[in-house]
Amino acid sequence: MPRRKEGVDMDWGAVIVAAGSGKRMGAGMNKAYLPLEGRPVLAHTLEAFEACEAVSEIVIVAAAGEEAKAEALAREFGIRKLTAVIAGGAERQDSVYAGLAALRAEGALVHDAARPLVTPARIAACCVAAAAQGAAALAVPVKDTIKLSDGAGMIVSTPERSLLWAVQTPQAFRRAELMDAHERARREGAAATDDAMLLERLGRKVAIVESDYANLKITTPEDLPIAELLLARRRRDGLERNG
Ligand code: CTP
Ligand code: MG
Repeated sequence: MPRRKEGVDMDWGAVIVAAGSGKRMGAGMNKAYLPLEGRPVLAHTLEAFEACEAVSEIVIVAAAGEEAKAEALAREFGIRKLTAVIAGGAERQDSVYAGLAALRAEGALVHDAARPLVTPARIAACCVAAAAQGAAALAVPVKDTIKLSDGAGMIVSTPERSLLWAVQTPQAFRRAELMDAHERARREGAAATDDAMLLERLGRKVAIVESDYANLKITTPEDLPIAELLLARRRRDGLERNG
């Protein structure tokens, strides 16, 4: 038996979804290619997975027409684990599905290109939890009080905050199980905004791995300067990508 990497008894491949259009960013381009401290958001994201020992292959899902751009970026930033660049679909769920089909590893990590502050340590923690418990997702306790609305501007109720988590990526699964959940959702017309949801609807368990607030998703314009502040702080604290 080959010696396995610490704490991880499976091999892991990552699907990095970068096929969105970044509407809420309002930059008139895919936010995955916007500069963050002078390097594209996607480059930061890929570097974290490249540096994570648990991960052996990386598949990028690029917007149709941006495949060559994504591949060139991966080459420029020395991403040796890249095995494929696949065209994404209309919804995030379609993009993940397309990427999963190109993975070979037993374990599948799904990650948003738009979360460039993820660290190799967090990725590994997600893999360890999923290897032990079947599936896992990084998440943070919500800070705000969350209201359920009636969809017409009125509050209906207030879920107990201590039970609420804001889920992030990566999320980690057995590849075959996630693929099956995607195929079922497609057959049944079920839409999901993350991958854990596809297992939840089948009654499967997904473990929560507590993450940190710095693993933010670049979504609206103010997120970029916040991400730059967090990167600067990380450097100052000497944590680099080990935090
Ligand atoms: N994504 C994707 N394919 C889609 C939609 C989204 O691969 N059809 C990816 C995005 O590139 C992003 C991640 O899913 O890395 C999270 O989605 P989101 O933050 O919503 O990004 P966008 O869809 O690009 O942004 P917006 O919703 O503001 O248009
Ligand atoms: Mg979107």
